[in-house]
Amino acid sequence: MTMMMMSRGGTKRVANTAVSVAKGLSCEVGGLKAFYGGGVRSESTMALSEKEKKVGLSSDGGNKEQKEIVSYWGVEPSKITKLDGTEWKWNCFRPWETYKADVSIDLKKHHPPTTFLDKMAFWTVKTLRYPTDVFFQRQYGCRAMMLETVAAVPGMVGGMLLHFKSLRRFEQSGGWIKALLEEAENERMHLMTFMEVAKPKWYERALVITVQGVFFNAYFLGYMISPKFAHRMVGYLEEEAIHSYTEFLKELDKGNIQNVPAPAIAIDYWQLPPDATLRDVVMVVRADEAHHRDVNHFASDIHYQGRELRETAAPIGYH
Ligand SMILES: [Fe+2]
Ligand SMILES: [Fe+2]
Repeated sequence: MTMMMMSRGGTKRVANTAVSVAKGLSCEVGGLKAFYGGGVRSESTMALSEKEKKVGLSSDGGNKEQKEIVSYWGVEPSKITKLDGTEWKWNCFRPWETYKADVSIDLKKHHPPTTFLDKMAFWTVKTLRYPTDVFFQRQYGCRAMMLETVAAVPGMVGGMLLHFKSLRRFEQSGGWIKALLEEAENERMHLMTFMEVAKPKWYERALVITVQGVFFNAYFLGYMISPKFAHRMVGYLEEEAIHSYTEFLKELDKGNIQNVPAPAIAIDYWQLPPDATLRDVVMVVRADEAHHRDVNHFASDIHYQGRELRETAAPIGYH
């Protein structure tokens, strides 16, 4: 049994190949052992008839409950259980990917725009905020859900472009591919959380499709032309996100938005207590946005120094 502990500020993550301890959860990963040990792999080479015998697919039907469905390819889903014996129900993330958000992060940090490019990035974001304010007004739950569909785009585009750059230049990325893809995944988890408390209407879905089409292509082009501008713009977008979530918290505190129980997915992802509420969720999401802000301003600064991202170790796991 191997145990690795990584520490970042007030955040500690425990990762383990066989047992993961997080949030007082201990999770056994049955499938992983088989994966590394080759047990499952070797089964994929078995003749189908042998496998059929093994899984009890006899003509008499047998006891259906005792039958296992074994893929012809030997790809079995890993079985993960919590300490209390209940099943880990999320396939989209695993216990070792969960973390406690560092809510002590400075929320007021701001990069003052000085260069022409910085000012352009800053005012692009400020301009984009205007129609957002008009459209959503004070519906912060809905606003958060919709904006997260956009927020998860830059990390994926940046990560993808760095991935291709690494391939065509035969060079390492310094961890930046992983860091940016992690950011995209983290933002997508924000969306998976908020869609539990705010359901999108048909015209909002249509808007997301349109905005995604435009924003993906615009950011893709922007990153190709000037990654320093692209990262700076995301840095400012994250500053705005922090502001929006602060307003969200104010509305919750005033009672204008009901402080409902936190969705189960959020409790597991951020290792929140079982009685956590929407307010707790907004607090940890806001902390994530502050981390994204820092990573993107940092990435832009690296470019400003005339360096490439790969020359500086990426802040992997920083969110
Ligand atoms: Fe987000
Ligand atoms: Fe963010």
